[in-house]
This record gives sequence, structure tokens and C-alpha cells, in this order.
Amino acid sequence: MSGPVPPADGPQPVDLPAGRSYLCSCRRSRQGWFCDGAHLGSGLIAREIQLEQPGTVLMCGCGRSRRYPLCDGSHGRAAVKPWWSWWR
Ligand code: FES
Repeated sequence: MSGPVPPADGPQPVDLPAGRSYLCSCRRSRQGWFCDGAHLGSGLIAREIQLEQPGTVLMCGCGRSRRYPLCDGSHGRAAVKPWWSWWR
């Protein structure tokens, strides 16, 4: 196989209202992208985002973003091969 590994899923647009929103960073929420407190005890915290006007943000669908749950463009980069695969 040559070229970058295609992402499992790309950015997911989500409409947010004006004001403060708390986004799920633990992937346990039953409210989709929005925090429902399920992160308690996981060591993670909700990501707070504040918009002056209602708007659309891009959420990470591939799980590789360093700013999860927000997309940072990592879905477009080649996956890093584990060091032991160099000898294959
Ligand atoms: S979808 Fe863009 S970084 Fe994951």
C-alpha cells in the first residue's frame, strides 16, 4: 500500500448556539458531542468553547486530533507506523 492511509471518518460539522458550550472529550457522553458529565473519574475534562454568534464547528471524526473533540486536520496526515513495522 502506498500513500497516506485514508481516515476512517473525516471532520463532522456540528451547529452550536451562541454562548458557551461544553464538548465531550472522553467519548462516554450519551449526548453525542456534548458533555453530560460522564467523564467524571476519567481524568479528562469537557472542552469549553464560546461563540459570539451561532456557528458551525468541525468535530474530529477520526479520533486522531490533538485538540479532540475539535478537528485539527490530523485526519489528512499519514498514520504513523509503529517502530516494529520498520523491519517488515
Ligand atoms: S477528523 Fe480531523 S483530526 Fe480527526
